[in-house]
Amino acid sequence: MINAADIVVGLAWGDEAKGKVTSHLASLKKDGAPYYDFVARWNGGSNAGHTIYVNDVCFKTHIVPCGILHGIKSIIGPNCVLNPDSFYRELDALGSKGADTSLVRVSPRCHIVSEQHIEYDRLNLSKKLGTTSKGIAPCYADKAARTGVLARDVLDEELLWDENLYGNLLCEGAQGVWLDINRGRYPWVTSSETLPYSACSIGFPTQVINNIYGAAKIYDTRSGEDPMFPSLLFDDRHLKQIADVGAEYGVTTGRRRKVNWLNLNYLIESINLTGTTSLLISKCDILEEVGVYRLFYNEELLTFVSLVDMKSFIKTSINNDCPLVEKIGFSYSAKCLGQE
Ligand code: IMP
Ligand code: MG
Repeated sequence: MINAADIVVGLAWGDEAKGKVTSHLASLKKDGAPYYDFVARWNGGSNAGHTIYVNDVCFKTHIVPCGILHGIKSIIGPNCVLNPDSFYRELDALGSKGADTSLVRVSPRCHIVSEQHIEYDRLNLSKKLGTTSKGIAPCYADKAARTGVLARDVLDEELLWDENLYGNLLCEGAQGVWLDINRGRYPWVTSSETLPYSACSIGFPTQVINNIYGAAKIYDTRSGEDPMFPSLLFDDRHLKQIADVGAEYGVTTGRRRKVNWLNLNYLIESINLTGTTSLLISKCDILEEVGVYRLFYNEELLTFVSLVDMKSFIKTSINNDCPLVEKIGFSYSAKCLGQE
């Protein structure tokens, strides 16, 4: 039985700096040792792309939880999907930068993404739905049809997790609320559950959940097709500037992300849907560099004279409408939380 579980969740369409938040939490110590005993992913596969800086070294992860960057056992959970080839490549790349890849274990129940899944995704879904072509939808389809192949059938015994959980667990989310298969804007979603309810699939009861860390960005971005993010957004001068300055390109696909002003109503909805207790809003430095401060609220586009004004509007609205939130932080750096 575990002692406590904390969950990091994306509050929008992915790419909200969950990697940064998770890595910061994984670095926390208690009596000189890591506070967390495990870091585990509960959903998705190598469609995710987390950018993490540890001691100024930049790591890019797709399926491997960031615990290995901090000497913590890292679990790829039973609701994840894994392509062995890209998994081994990722382990090699992380290992060559100094990460201890011997700490990674894969749930025996994790489903295997085959080359056929990837091919089907690439040929049939990537254009229509803007998927990442990583075979995610076909693999989860086989899982639901009960025709899937499991990690226990194909992976080396020593890579398999013995399903033993103890101590403190940190759950690393992938994608974000609006990509959740149940609560997102279907069919413009991914094929897994991105919300905290699904973290329990790792193997713990809801009662041990302590903190829900919600990761958000001070503007919205979307990688992949979505009618809510029309391509005419590319024509807006300021949004284009945000995309450039903020380097809004997919870590997994290299595609340019569509950028829009933050929709505060959606953020409030996703905070309440996830039960976020601690909120971090990232990339404030990008907005500051562009020097234009806008957000959508109640279907109006509001413009603020300064970032200070915009942040105070955000804080007040969230404090009014999100009773579970205890902490709100703003970050100005990709490398650290830089909370104020
Ligand atoms: P799939 O997960 O590859 O099937 O893609 C479905 C949708 O989710 C597409 O719009 C992708 O761009 C989006 N998506 C999947 N994973 C991520 C992610 O980690 N960040 C941002 N968008 C993602
Ligand atoms: Mg990403």
